[in-house]
Amino acid sequence: MKVTVVGAGNVGATCANVIAHKELCNEVILLDIKEGVAEGKSLDMWQTSPINLYDTRIKGCTNDYAQTEGSDVVVITSGLPRKPGMSRDDLIATNAGIVRSVTENIVKYSPNAIIIVVSNPLDVMTYCAFLTSGFPSSKVFGMAGILDTARYRAFLAEALNVSPKDIQAVLMGGHGDTMVPLPRYTTVAGIPVTEMIDTEKLDAIVERTKKGGGELVNLMGTSAWYAPGAAAAQMVEAIVRDQKRIFPCCAWLQGEYGMKDIYLGVPVKLGRNGIEEVIQLDLNNDEKELLKNSATAVKEVMKVLDNMQEAAK
Ligand code: NAI
Ligand code: 2OP
Repeated sequence: MKVTVVGAGNVGATCANVIAHKELCNEVILLDIKEGVAEGKSLDMWQTSPINLYDTRIKGCTNDYAQTEGSDVVVITSGLPRKPGMSRDDLIATNAGIVRSVTENIVKYSPNAIIIVVSNPLDVMTYCAFLTSGFPSSKVFGMAGILDTARYRAFLAEALNVSPKDIQAVLMGGHGDTMVPLPRYTTVAGIPVTEMIDTEKLDAIVERTKKGGGELVNLMGTSAWYAPGAAAAQMVEAIVRDQKRIFPCCAWLQGEYGMKDIYLGVPVKLGRNGIEEVIQLDLNNDEKELLKNSATAVKEVMKVLDNMQEAAK
């Protein structure tokens, strides 16, 4: 198994590091456009292998896609991160150019790869990679839901003073302030969360989750990387180990949840073939309405990308 991570910045380097630690493949290629950065970080990570006892080989390169040839999975993290005051959507023009050129190279060197997009604005960058690659939608999807759900689960674990391992939850929608955490599908070791916490506290956690990325941008001056990198690596793990895990991922919808031609966060089954099934939940009317609002917000930004592509013709 060979995995490539494009972008050796905060998220990409963290993701490659987790993949190697977990020995998810024989070889991880870390590629960046900045001279020497991916090589340096890879060498540093590889030098932890005798300490952390793994043998996945991490190799870095500067924009040399020949090194990525034959990758089974490619994670795209290249692109600008948010700065305070910016929304994820402010990144669209720059990051679309980057994601497009990266995807063209992936198609050329790894025509059978599964592509996981991380760059923001996530739903629209995933759409961009899908359009550029011409790959089936089961092989092009985005990472956001695992991260957003992890934030929700971590906040709940803290509030309830229980292990985060026991919090299970579903969160849907776009990777933005309209995302839809679903308390009705949240349990603490199988117990509905609503039996463990009062409504006011739960509502506050739902709101904090929606702004979870912004909270970190304000604290650090750039966006988060430990949880995003680990979340992308968890998707790689589900694929390379064919785990058939159920995760919220940004997937191309063709009628599911009454939506068509849109990339949106929904629960999916992830295995060796990529997205093997979109799981359809029986949402109530309020949940449907929230999901619809989120889809409207995502569609607006998808349209910005469509217009940009049209103007460039
Ligand atoms: P960063 O600035 O630390 O790293 C980005 C890297 O991409 C840099 O090293 C840069 O040199 C590289 N790069 C730029 N253009 C490139 C190209 N054409 N080819 C190869 N490499 C290129 O940023 P960070 O924090 O790693 O974030 C990366 C992206 O991930 C951002 O767009 C950020 O908004 C997004 N993100 C998405 C999350 C999600 O849940 N989907 C969570 C966190 C970040
Ligand atoms: C995050 O949610 C900004 O998308 C990035 O941390």
